[in-house]
Amino acid sequence: MTQILVLQTSARREGSASRQHTDQLVQALSGQHADARIVTRELGIEPLPHLDEILLGGWTKPAEAQTEAERQAAARSAELIEELLASDIVVIGSAMYNFGITSTLKAWLDHVLAAGKTFRYTENGPIGLAGDRKVYVVAARGGRYQGSPLDHQEPYLRTALGFIGISDVVFVYVEGQAMGEAEAAKGRAEAEEAIKRVAA
Ligand SMILES: Cc1cc2nc3c(=O)[nH]c(=O)nc-3n(C[C@H](O)[C@H](O)[C@H](O)COP(=O)(O)O)c2cc1C
Repeated sequence: MTQILVLQTSARREGSASRQHTDQLVQALSGQHADARIVTRELGIEPLPHLDEILLGGWTKPAEAQTEAERQAAARSAELIEELLASDIVVIGSAMYNFGITSTLKAWLDHVLAAGKTFRYTENGPIGLAGDRKVYVVAARGGRYQGSPLDHQEPYLRTALGFIGISDVVFVYVEGQAMGEAEAAKGRAEAEEAIKRVAA
């Protein structure tokens, strides 16, 4: 079985470019894996709690000293990590909000970048423990940012995923979504072509 973890981050249910093209890419990938099992997290619609004192307590206190809230927060984080580690492919529908990823995707990363589970510190620096999977990112933006220093979506995601050992990261861009109808349609058409290429 090939597990595909899908992370949707747009706050929009309707008209979301990242959602539409993520679905398209997942469909194409499922076609290649007859045994595909799709697991979806609607991070933009049902956000995870931010990393807070309770989760830190759940991570760091011994079990007997944890409050019930801390125990539950640590269990949620463990479930998200297990889900990631059980996945062969991760597809992230990443809407750009204020030059970067959504806070809801950042919250997911805060839950899964966990010492001893997805990375560990060594005397030579940190080592990623989650490298054995491929990640696709469908990055939707109002403007056009590919290769520009204003794009904090791609470099940040490459850094955060690289930190846990994931270096096989492929980006599909859906650009120009707030630049008028013609530019938005051009951005969508480019994304469709890119999806055909990367899923080939
Ligand atoms: C709160 C908010 C902030 C945004 N910030 C940016 C931005 O900094 N740069 C940009 O190009 N587009 C920005 N946009 C436009 C979105 O990136 C664009 O609409 C994209 O298509 C969103 O993904 P979605 O269609 O999947 O919802 C923003 C949109 C919203 C709602």
